Amino acid sequence: MRCEKAGFDGIQIHGAHDYIICEFLNRTYNQRTDQYGGSVENRARLLLDTLRGIREATRSDFNVSVRLSPERFGLDTADVIATYKLIIETGLADFIDISLWDCFKEASDEQFAGSQLIDLFTEIPRGETRLCVAGKIYSAADAQRCLDLGADLVAIGRAAITNHDFARSACADPSFVMREIPVTREILRSEGLSESFIEYMSGWKGFVADLRVV
Ligand SMILES: Cc1cc2nc3c(=O)[nH]c(=O)nc-3n(C[C@H](O)[C@H](O)[C@H](O)COP(=O)(O)O)c2cc1C
Repeated sequence: MRCEKAGFDGIQIHGAHDYIICEFLNRTYNQRTDQYGGSVENRARLLLDTLRGIREATRSDFNVSVRLSPERFGLDTADVIATYKLIIETGLADFIDISLWDCFKEASDEQFAGSQLIDLFTEIPRGETRLCVAGKIYSAADAQRCLDLGADLVAIGRAAITNHDFARSACADPSFVMREIPVTREILRSEGLSESFIEYMSGWKGFVADLRVV
């Protein structure tokens, strides 16, 4: 409600990357014996209660989404798929953002060996809920490929840091590709990054070219 009042169009609930809601979803971490532990329905209860609370407190066109990670962080992919279905069934989210880290990778979970991770989500009927994917979308062609594979939206991380106008450029030119990484500090400055952000990005392997005279 405070975000709505502050003028934002929407918010995203972070259910991914080992943050607290993700830890509730995790069958290993979540050792609770009450209604917030045990079955997938119980482990997803905190997330769904949160969504319900937000819907009750905000106007109907306030955009509410959820971010989920389908693997890594000790998560079971089948549990995340079940959670994804529960969110769809409730109709509480405008879109679900699946953080794939690489949109074109194969599923790591043995149960889904041989399947492309993105397909595990695109193939599930989702009614009015939109599906967003993120991970290694570095060009207009990558973005188009995700849409062709059945996603409704794409989220851009690193390519929007090397190219602040990635979205506009990709929409205007189907052959558009992000700058090659590593990128120099000078280029990052020209893209509008602050010195502290450039310093932070130098901790991301292979992102900032540090040219040192030896
Ligand atoms: C500098 C930086 C900071 C990030 N911070 C967050 C974050 O706070 N929460 C989050 O869910 N993802 C975060 N991510 C992950 C991105 O949202 C995205 O899922 C990931 O970078 C993969 O997309 P990409 O290959 O387009 O970069 C961050 C990524 C970068 C590069």
